[in-house]
Amino acid sequence: MGFVSKRMVYAGSPIREDEDLANKLAKEGKEIIKLNSGDPPKFLPTPEYIIEAYERALKEERTYYANSQGAIELREAVSEYYRRHYNADFDPDRIIITQGISEAIAFVDAALIDRGEKALLISPYYPAYVSYIGLYGGKPVFIPAVEEKGWSIDLDALEKTVKKTKKAKYLLVVNPNNPTGSVLDRKNLEEIVRIAKDNDLFLISDEIYDEMVFEGSFTSMSQVAKGLPYLLLNGASKTFDATGIRIGYAILPEDDEKSNQLLRSMIRLALLRISANTPAQYATAYAMSNVAAFERSVSQFREEVKERVLFTAREVNKSQYMQAVVPKAAFYVFPKLKMEKLNVKDDKEFVTKLLQEKQVQLTRGSGFGSPNHVRFVALADKETMSLAISKIEEFCEEHAR
Ligand SMILES: Cc1ncc(COP(=O)(O)O)c(C=O)c1O
Repeated sequence: MGFVSKRMVYAGSPIREDEDLANKLAKEGKEIIKLNSGDPPKFLPTPEYIIEAYERALKEERTYYANSQGAIELREAVSEYYRRHYNADFDPDRIIITQGISEAIAFVDAALIDRGEKALLISPYYPAYVSYIGLYGGKPVFIPAVEEKGWSIDLDALEKTVKKTKKAKYLLVVNPNNPTGSVLDRKNLEEIVRIAKDNDLFLISDEIYDEMVFEGSFTSMSQVAKGLPYLLLNGASKTFDATGIRIGYAILPEDDEKSNQLLRSMIRLALLRISANTPAQYATAYAMSNVAAFERSVSQFREEVKERVLFTAREVNKSQYMQAVVPKAAFYVFPKLKMEKLNVKDDKEFVTKLLQEKQVQLTRGSGFGSPNHVRFVALADKETMSLAISKIEEFCEEHAR
């Protein structure tokens, strides 16, 4: 270090931090079971109608720079999707298309966070949020979800922290949640909205897994936050089983001062990088507008994900070395390690040694703000998952206290 800026300590991702080791082992001829990255096309092929939509976009020569805010066809398709699914009325001019939600996160913190400013997050959290707050010199303040109560949010604790944290720039919820697979019910969301209103707090809701709820119903922030300044984030990665097309949507539905300032700033940031990938934008617009194919394929995908996730949770919970809350959504199982039974220092050592010794790659819970946990991407087929879990069990036996 020394040459690069000090802020570089915040760059990186716990999800990919063992990639060099995994590549080295693969070069030595070892077969790795990779369960670290929430990347569904690696496990289940992207549906044909999406591939065709991308081909169509290329054949139409959509290879130029698109409008910086996003191709109007896609912004209209996103608006239409929200009308159909959530009865929401979003002006396409209040939607910004980004290179995945990841770019929207960078825009939001660039626009909102000055040095020393605070933002409120529920933990466990999705790591990029914390990294970007750090990059812009901000300070994340965490409200821990309660694992013993199915990773639910303690609303009293939330309200206390909100009141204590003067001038927090925003409160972020990731709902459904990565890594826990929990879903906030309508009552909880309404309470969060009330707390935000009472405390003049801007809300951000990341709903990238909204189509991946397989237990109970889902309420979007857009259904309960009318009249409140808030930002909604969603995208194509998970719903379309197409993470690599890199399309995200950032929506600021309300016409108020805070929302308008953020909207204008995010558009200016979007101008800096000229355009999101144009064929990908058109492919997403075409795929979204193909309603019959969309609904059929998303519901098949959801069923398959449900089976795989619930199978993984069941198998994981047979172990005497770890215990997971059964997820209601998304792709993950997030067990707590029974450290008192294990002769490893922490979750980081667990994950790295497991990769070295058994060639199974998980992600350490501390990367999500929950030490002594590990995250499984539960998308592998049953045979692969059973093999992975039996290797993990062997590993635990070999490192038992
Ligand atoms: C909660 C959450 N938000 C955002 C992202 C980033 O998604 P994108 O592919 O749209 O950049 C992910 C990816 O795993 C995620 O889990």
